[in-house]
Amino acid sequence: MQDQIDQYSAEINAFSPANADELETFRIKFLGTKGIIKDLFEQFKTVGPEEKRTFGKVLNQFKQLAESKYNELKEAAGSEPATQNIQFDLTLPGDGFNLGSRHPLSLVRNEIVDIFKRLGFVVAEGPEIEDDWHNFSALNFPEEHPARDMQDTFFIKKNNGKDDIALRTHTSSVQVRMMENGKPPFRAIMPGRVYRNEAISARAHCFFHQVEGLYVDENVSFADLKQTLYHFVQELYGEGTKVRFRPSYFPFTEPSAEMDVSCTICKGTGCNMCKYSGWVEILGCGMVDPNVLENCGIDSKVYTGFAFGMGMERIANLKYVIRDLRLFSENDVRFLKQFQTEII
Ligand code: PHE
Repeated sequence: MQDQIDQYSAEINAFSPANADELETFRIKFLGTKGIIKDLFEQFKTVGPEEKRTFGKVLNQFKQLAESKYNELKEAAGSEPATQNIQFDLTLPGDGFNLGSRHPLSLVRNEIVDIFKRLGFVVAEGPEIEDDWHNFSALNFPEEHPARDMQDTFFIKKNNGKDDIALRTHTSSVQVRMMENGKPPFRAIMPGRVYRNEAISARAHCFFHQVEGLYVDENVSFADLKQTLYHFVQELYGEGTKVRFRPSYFPFTEPSAEMDVSCTICKGTGCNMCKYSGWVEILGCGMVDPNVLENCGIDSKVYTGFAFGMGMERIANLKYVIRDLRLFSENDVRFLKQFQTEII
């Protein structure tokens, strides 16, 4: 019996549990109701009175040893955090996180706004749901005039039997609102979303984005229009980009023109972006028709102005060579993540 107790004592002294389960196994083995100590006390009952004196002491010491070892280990485990047994490898690198990127149309919009801001233009905005007056009539579109068909409008409400409320087809409506509500001089650009009733394909969409511009003051001439747009193109596409103006027609400008730039992809030598002509059209422009100024309460004998409008998708196509308009609104991350990430 003495030998056995010595052996158990050595085991207890050497015991060092790796986790709470091992400690519990230890408790059951030595201190449990069917454990070793209980068993030794059972055996103790059967020894003679002489041995009882010596063994009684030895057995009590052994019991104390097991109990104090257990209590000590239990206390040590209790003061450790609960995660003690979860294995962490603190040398592993942390999880990375992805930075978002700006939408190509936002990049183009910001660039255009920056260029015109440096020329003293402010940014103006207006509603996307417009009435006939602001989208058409004030802009010199006569009623029942075929020019209204140019715009393929989504009408949403009739007024006195006449189509009146529509999704705006261009941001020229913001020019009207600005002139009606203020006094010249005006120098502003109007970025925003516009809607046209077109079948969706690679080359057309039922909505797109425009930036229009308006400059009204005394003595504003076509030369100012040309120089402003020439400067804009040099800033946007780089020094040496050529421009040309072709006569055109818009109800709200007279004279009207369309402006082409030398193809930014092939530099004018001919490619399929410019259909081998070396030129691509980027905007419409002209001198604000005096009727429009009068419709907005501005004296056309004192003031003149120019206006222009461009599609942001077209500008982005030329910059990033995007051949399908639908990509702009599909939100495919494989497309979106190719654009510049801005780290703030
Ligand atoms: N509003 C015209 C369009 O949507 C663009 C334009 C604006 C043309 C200003 C001339 C002057 O096509």
